[in-house]
Amino acid sequence: MRCPCLHALALWGGFPVLFITVAGTVSAPDTHTIHERRGLSSSSQSSLSSRWTKRSRVDGTSILPVRIGLTQSNLEAAQDQLLRISDPASPDYGKHWTSEQVIEFFQPSTEAIDAVTHWLVDEGIEKVTHSDNKAWLAFDAPACLVEALLHTEYYEHFDTVSGVAMPACDEYHVPKHIQHHIDYITPGVKLMAPMDMEARGHMKYKSRVKRIDRPSMAAATAAPVSANNSLTTCGAGMTPACIAAIYSIPPGDKSDASNSLGIFETDLQFWDQAALNDFFARYSPQVPQDTHPTDYLIDGGVAKTSNVSLALIDGPEAVLDIEVAYPLVWPQQIKIYDADDIRIQSWYNDTWSWGFNTFLDAIDGSYCTYTAYNETGDLVGLDPTYPDPLPGGYNGTLQCGVFEPTNVISISYGGTEAAFPIAYQKRQCNEYLKLGLQGVTFVFGSGDNGVAERVSFTESDATCIGPEGLIFNPSWPSTCPYVTSVGATYIPTGQTIYDPEWAAVFANEPEETSGGGFSNVFGAPEYQRNATDRFFATHSPDYPYYSSLVPEENNPALPNVTALAGSTGGRYNRIGRGYPDVSALGNNITIGIGKGEFLNVAGTSASTPIFASIINRINEERLAVGKTAVGFVNPTLYAHPQMFNDITKGNNTGCDGGGFNAVQGWDPVTGLGTPKYPRMLDVFLNLP
Ligand SMILES: *[C@@H]1O[C@H](CO)[C@@H](O)[C@H](O)[C@H]1NC(C)=O
Ligand SMILES: *[C@@H]1O[C@H](CO)[C@@H](O)[C@H](O)[C@H]1NC(C)=O
Ligand SMILES: *[C@@H]1O[C@H](CO)[C@@H](O)[C@H](O)[C@H]1NC(C)=O
Ligand SMILES: *[C@@H]1O[C@H](CO)[C@@H](O)[C@H](O)[C@H]1NC(C)=O
Ligand SMILES: *[C@@H]1O[C@H](CO)[C@@H](O)[C@H](O)[C@H]1NC(C)=O
Ligand SMILES: *[C@@H]1O[C@H](CO)[C@@H](O)[C@H](O)[C@H]1NC(C)=O
Ligand SMILES: *[C@@H]1O[C@H](CO)[C@@H](O)[C@H](O)[C@H]1NC(C)=O
Ligand SMILES: *[C@@H]1O[C@H](CO)[C@@H](O)[C@H](O)[C@H]1NC(C)=O
Ligand SMILES: *[C@@H]1O[C@H](CO)[C@@H](O)[C@H](O)[C@H]1NC(C)=O
Repeated sequence: MRCPCLHALALWGGFPVLFITVAGTVSAPDTHTIHERRGLSSSSQSSLSSRWTKRSRVDGTSILPVRIGLTQSNLEAAQDQLLRISDPASPDYGKHWTSEQVIEFFQPSTEAIDAVTHWLVDEGIEKVTHSDNKAWLAFDAPACLVEALLHTEYYEHFDTVSGVAMPACDEYHVPKHIQHHIDYITPGVKLMAPMDMEARGHMKYKSRVKRIDRPSMAAATAAPVSANNSLTTCGAGMTPACIAAIYSIPPGDKSDASNSLGIFETDLQFWDQAALNDFFARYSPQVPQDTHPTDYLIDGGVAKTSNVSLALIDGPEAVLDIEVAYPLVWPQQIKIYDADDIRIQSWYNDTWSWGFNTFLDAIDGSYCTYTAYNETGDLVGLDPTYPDPLPGGYNGTLQCGVFEPTNVISISYGGTEAAFPIAYQKRQCNEYLKLGLQGVTFVFGSGDNGVAERVSFTESDATCIGPEGLIFNPSWPSTCPYVTSVGATYIPTGQTIYDPEWAAVFANEPEETSGGGFSNVFGAPEYQRNATDRFFATHSPDYPYYSSLVPEENNPALPNVTALAGSTGGRYNRIGRGYPDVSALGNNITIGIGKGEFLNVAGTSASTPIFASIINRINEERLAVGKTAVGFVNPTLYAHPQMFNDITKGNNTGCDGGGFNAVQGWDPVTGLGTPKYPRMLDVFLNLP
């Protein structure tokens, strides 16, 4: 091994003296170029924040674990592959991939692996290994050797918040002829450490009860004590019997061990057995007492409590999701994925990211180190970092690939596109695509604020964006084209279950309606374009729009709608991915909260597990006849609009005269409509 500084160390009694020019910068030959430099990119994580202090030079003999992230291929081609196995007209429908096939498809080209490996071998690096997800080359080497390789100098950096110290450099170089194969190298300019409030200080909310996409306790009304399984009282509270009757869902009679329904929870939303028991006894007697989900606890997550008061102190999301889903899927079982330690879940100024990335890490280990759009792994400052050494934190390492994904995952949480870096959204969306290739269906709520959304939780109300606050504010991740987004409907007071559903106006929150609109980050996908075209051809709103997407290049910035709208005066993006895809009941949904109490709650939080349960039931029937789970469903949904009750009443008006109407055909309020279970089953059972 050629290691000039080790030699120097021997000669000079332990003082590394090589390559030092101005502290932190090292000159490199003409054959090389700077690959990353702190503060060069606009990414905030590249500049040294006040929490870090640069200290002494890293000892030349210390061994550094080096990882070289290689540029991945096929990001663009992946969408076609997903369509090939999800388009109902395709002969390859339902032929899901294994995780190994997905890794292989996305792995860097052989050319990239060879070129970078050659460089390392030429420089005397030994024992280079290729990571499990094929995206990395890794080796261990003394700091002095890595410094010579990358024409850099490593310094210890001390994190004043967590007390952690780690090596990093201000810039490093790679040979010009292989630069395009390299995404980036660690240790490098990035500093990874447990997040702190300061780092995430620009993302805050104020009112815990008014958070997006979860039922608001403030909006809950006591369910009338007289309500029971009678279908004549559905107007006063939607019970499991009402929901099953409206969508013609017969009682379940199957349970395949591989087909539990998955539900995501976080944010101090706990379930408790007393609440479930009360609810089952009264409204769903076929579900035995003490039935409960299996908890998959991720990075210190907590899903269950035995304290009924604690279960509700922060909202009834988990109780709602479980009580809506069990009556529909029973005798099938439910698994709860509960993400992030209690310190992070309970942090008042938390969070727009909801733990989706740590959740995805836990169900797909390759995502932990997945590089796309110039981001590798979770984003420091937006996602939690483990171990979390702060009091109450999860002190283990980040959990990667520790749980299997269920076939269907229901997620009643979301934020807004406006709050996430573009690259962050695209990288995560690509992971939904990858899991779709493996047969997983992601079902997200479309939000509870019509075309508005909360950009910052320091505001108590949802807002629109842009210079005059007139541009609509799309929800995230509903705008990712590889998830199924669910809006909400209701049956107005005085009408019966035999009357048509309307686009939801949430009880006691008349300004809050079913979330919908068009993405600024993702274009309308092919499977949806006929539907959006038809909506614009027949029901174009009379206010202006724009037609542009955020720039193509990988972008660490937030989406800038002011730049997108330009001088058009436009209020929504005519070429963006439209959402929701479908809808389901989401108002006056009756839940049991323990101690014999029952409440009606509202929100797409309820609609989401209803739709997810229906897909779970369809999978149950397909598995029983030897077919695969349905996986990514959107192409089939849009190809068969007859599977839905078209909702043509109501709207999601907002943003000062903006918003949309529910109309014939797909609309950005209720999507294609609400499920006709027997027709859906018929269509999906007839697919290969
Ligand atoms: C259900 O509720 C309706 C209306 O309150 C009532 O007339 C009916 O008797 C109840 N049925 C049962 C079985 O309790
Ligand atoms: C919701 O339920 C309450 C209480 O049962 C009832 O008074 C109200 O009319 C219902 N609202 C709607 C929109 O159905
Ligand atoms: C249950 O939780 C509530 C709310 O945090 C708390 O006030 C109460 O003391 C807890 N009860 C028990 C028995 O732990
Ligand atoms: C939340 O953020 C605000 C504004 O930065 C700060 O004043 C407050 O102390 C924070 N609250 C908590 C619980 O961290
Ligand atoms: C985390 O774990 C390490 C090793 O087990 C231990 O030394 C340390 O005290 C723990 N820190 C906290 C905050 O629990
Ligand atoms: C869109 O409509 C055209 C014309 O009717 C049809 O040929 C095409 O198959 C449709 N595309 C999808 C994805 O449904
Ligand atoms: C990654 O970012 C660097 C600058 O930080 C840029 O030069 C490069 O083009 C980006 N890579 C991709 C694939 O966009
Ligand atoms: C957004 O774009 C507008 C118009 O191009 C520009 O003036 C503004 O500085 C941009 N905002 C940010 C945060 O980049
Ligand atoms: C939107 O729907 C509500 C009822 O859900 C209705 O009161 C309102 O007038 C409608 N707004 C428009 C602009 O049609």
